[in-house]
Amino acid sequence: MDKLTGITQSVQREIETFNNLFAASLQDHHSDFQSMIDFISGKNGKRIRPIVLILSAKLCGETNQKTIDYALILELLHTATLIHDDVVDNTMERRAQPSVNAQFDNRIAVLLGDYILSLAIAHAVRAQNDIVLKIISRLAHNLAEGELSQLIDSKKAVVAEDRYFDVIRKKTAILLSSCSELGALSAGATPETREKLRFIGENLGLCFQIRDDIFDYFDQGEIGKPTGNDIREGKITLPLIHALQAAPQPVSSAMLEIISKQEFTPGNIRQLIEFAKAYHGIEYAQSRMQEIKAKTLELLADFPCSEAKTAMIDLMGYIIERKK
Ligand code: IPE
Ligand code: IPE
Ligand code: MG
Ligand code: MG
Repeated sequence: MDKLTGITQSVQREIETFNNLFAASLQDHHSDFQSMIDFISGKNGKRIRPIVLILSAKLCGETNQKTIDYALILELLHTATLIHDDVVDNTMERRAQPSVNAQFDNRIAVLLGDYILSLAIAHAVRAQNDIVLKIISRLAHNLAEGELSQLIDSKKAVVAEDRYFDVIRKKTAILLSSCSELGALSAGATPETREKLRFIGENLGLCFQIRDDIFDYFDQGEIGKPTGNDIREGKITLPLIHALQAAPQPVSSAMLEIISKQEFTPGNIRQLIEFAKAYHGIEYAQSRMQEIKAKTLELLADFPCSEAKTAMIDLMGYIIERKK
């Protein structure tokens, strides 16, 4: 049994309830586009966000209907962002099937993404809770800002590590931190505990994106989406950023020249990937994840031992080591 299966089993009852609610929320839409929605819901993701939300609730008390309702909002938001992301990144595969832009076209993907986003907003309003709305609006703002900053940076050959962390905190970690915070809220946690869980989720999210970015330096494997895309799109991620800092100046200048001229031919991409590996970019990214993991374990130490706590620690391990 792989690590994620074990973690998912620890929240089996809640995940089943969640899966039923998620499927139901994507039913009974206008007959003109129900088949497109069916195309999206035909392939589930790993459900990391609902798992984080449910485990966070369990760390603070009992799961309940609010836990599942909040998980629905966030998984819908996640689904919408992936549909939009594949348009922005010009990616043709997602979850081992054609992306929405590949299956239909960019216009459908933009509008279908908006449609799913509107469902998420409707569910958030139904929660009738100002804190929920505040968390969701902050999330939407950060996500859009992160994606926009990344796109702007990719045109300007920005290769700064602090900028990289700023972008991944906004585009990815905010979703996970909203999950952990809303999980805590659903179980009635105090503001202090909610804050602690928000940091735990943010750390999970940072590691999640660093690991995702490492995938891009290797062959596709079992991940179900293409690799080698980031550099082609001008996205300079942590392994390459580190190599540019670590390599002798003449070597990094040559690499920076390719990047600033945006000469991303297949040969140059291969060269940049080999360069990042040769100057220990992958090991560096892994060591940054280990640092973040250590901080997360410290935060988790404040919670009493429980099955949920063990599963959360396992989840951190899974996120760092995952193969898909
Ligand atoms: C993909 O997230 C987007 C990133 C933040 C890298 P997941 O890998 O969790 O996507 P699914 O839902 O399992 O397909
Ligand atoms: C993931 O973006 C974060 C969002 C969707 C906002 P990426 O572009 O890095 O992730 P993948 O590799 O396409 O899933
Ligand atoms: Mg992207
Ligand atoms: Mg992408």
